[in-house]
Amino acid sequence: MPLDFAPARATAHANIALAKYWGKSDLVHNLPAVPSISLTLEELTTETEVCFEPGRQHDDFVLDGRPATRKELQRAVALLDRVRCAARIDHRARVTSHNRFPTAAGLASSASGFAALAAAATRAAGHDVDRTALSALARRSSASAARSIYGGFVELCAGVPGADELAARQIAPPTHWDVRLVVAFTAAGPKSVSSTEAMERSRSTSPFYDAWIEAAPGWSETVKRAIHDRDLEALGVAMEQSTLAFHCCAITSQPSTLYWGPATISALHTVTALRADGVPVWSTMDAGPHVKALCEAEHAPRVRDALTHTPGVLRVLVSTPGSGVEVSP
Ligand code: DP6
Repeated sequence: MPLDFAPARATAHANIALAKYWGKSDLVHNLPAVPSISLTLEELTTETEVCFEPGRQHDDFVLDGRPATRKELQRAVALLDRVRCAARIDHRARVTSHNRFPTAAGLASSASGFAALAAAATRAAGHDVDRTALSALARRSSASAARSIYGGFVELCAGVPGADELAARQIAPPTHWDVRLVVAFTAAGPKSVSSTEAMERSRSTSPFYDAWIEAAPGWSETVKRAIHDRDLEALGVAMEQSTLAFHCCAITSQPSTLYWGPATISALHTVTALRADGVPVWSTMDAGPHVKALCEAEHAPRVRDALTHTPGVLRVLVSTPGSGVEVSP
């Protein structure tokens, strides 16, 4: 076992689910109840540095220049504990992480955050693992993070309760299809309810949860085929249904989780109006108020302008298909 550990740095990108994960089949192992498919986004980046230090008493986590909250620290420590256990070390770590997202955007960063932390921590512990193991490690902290280990178009299958090895896999590289994701930010600040809590509320209280579980694999299959065929319309229709269906579960749970604000609805209408005007573009959302529009590269300027001029939209960002996690030295 090495006595001194050099710091390691990792860069990971956020991803947008084109077919959504919502709900868990195993809470303990954090296994998704449905398959999901995503696109990794180059412009939304997290950079993380980890150093295991002999003599350090506690793990220390600085996120975007401020000390992490208790909850954020707990989630990071859980991942670090897994790495320490696998690497057979007991040093505590110093972790520094920066989200290169527009400030105060309230955009989900757990996917890129845990993907970068998993990669940096394993390298810093001198315990390099392959991408499959890295994806499974990130998945235990946040299922969407399993997908950010890979670039381009990525699949995460549903988990079988108890089977803890589940990892994502790439189904097509970023160069496969020159699409754009146009992100319309409709609110500042973090989201009201975490996705973990909201999906658990959906599972335990929404009358539509069982219907969601039944329908979701079909949307995933359609999206996968559409990526293979580069068929944006087939992908877009399934993606919108998948989005609205999981939000339906969230909205109809008890207490209700309504992530949408007035500008969310305006932005959704903008996408529908663009389509009526002949622009091939479809919308999607995560567990938050922002609206994301998927189109081919040539239509991105028109989509960006229409969303920029939508009442309540604070700013718009255009993202390209991104690469998988990178770690150094
Ligand atoms: C709506 O991956 O954040 O963005 O596994 O509990 O951390 P945990 O949940 P998380 O959920 C993401 C939900 C989603 C859909 C998706 O990304 O597939």
